[in-house]
Amino acid sequence: MNQGARPARVVVLLSGRGSNFRAIAEANLPIEVVAVISNRPQAAGLTYARERGLTAIALDHTAQPDREIFDAQLADEIDRHQPDLVVLAGYMRILSPAFIARFEGRLLNIHPSLLPAFPGLKTHERALAEGVKIHGCTVHFVTAQLDHGPIVIQAAVPVRADDTADSLAARVLAQEHRIYPQAVRWFAEGRLVNNHGCVNLKDDLASQSVLSTGA
Ligand code: GRF
Repeated sequence: MNQGARPARVVVLLSGRGSNFRAIAEANLPIEVVAVISNRPQAAGLTYARERGLTAIALDHTAQPDREIFDAQLADEIDRHQPDLVVLAGYMRILSPAFIARFEGRLLNIHPSLLPAFPGLKTHERALAEGVKIHGCTVHFVTAQLDHGPIVIQAAVPVRADDTADSLAARVLAQEHRIYPQAVRWFAEGRLVNNHGCVNLKDDLASQSVLSTGA
């Protein structure tokens, strides 16, 4: 994983507004975003990528209903850019096992819950329904099991009595924008060590959790 002196080549996959991509792009990281790819041609994240002068590619999944074939085309497109790291930044499609195997170990995702709690969709609604008092977000390596890969970093936020799914989501999103750039930086610096499914930071005792005061 150690990229040495050259910036790590990063391909970003997204489907929507792309605020996590934006946070990564604006964090002054030792990376080069070599392509931004969206399965939705209208994704705001693609527009932002173009505004930054980045290579922005739309691969419309509705044009190819077979998931395996679409994912193989997507993987070929990614490989054309020779990435060290592939970042899922709100890529809202399940990836096929062959795709994940092809990029395993260099495929990161951000999920809006404290995994392993609340994998899947509607995490904020479910957190409120369960009455949890602490919620948050997780950056993890992607493996074949949905939302279960080795955890790189997490951030926690308090749940307030008057929270709605929207207010909680906004507080969590602010933390996503902190921890995803941090995780990408660690990867680019070659500092992430996967020790039997537990990710540690090389030569460092820095905490891999972030606690928000909930403001
Ligand atoms: C984020 O909440 C992320 O955790 C989830 O999808 C959302 C993407 O938001 N995977 P954005 O497109 O990065 O703004």
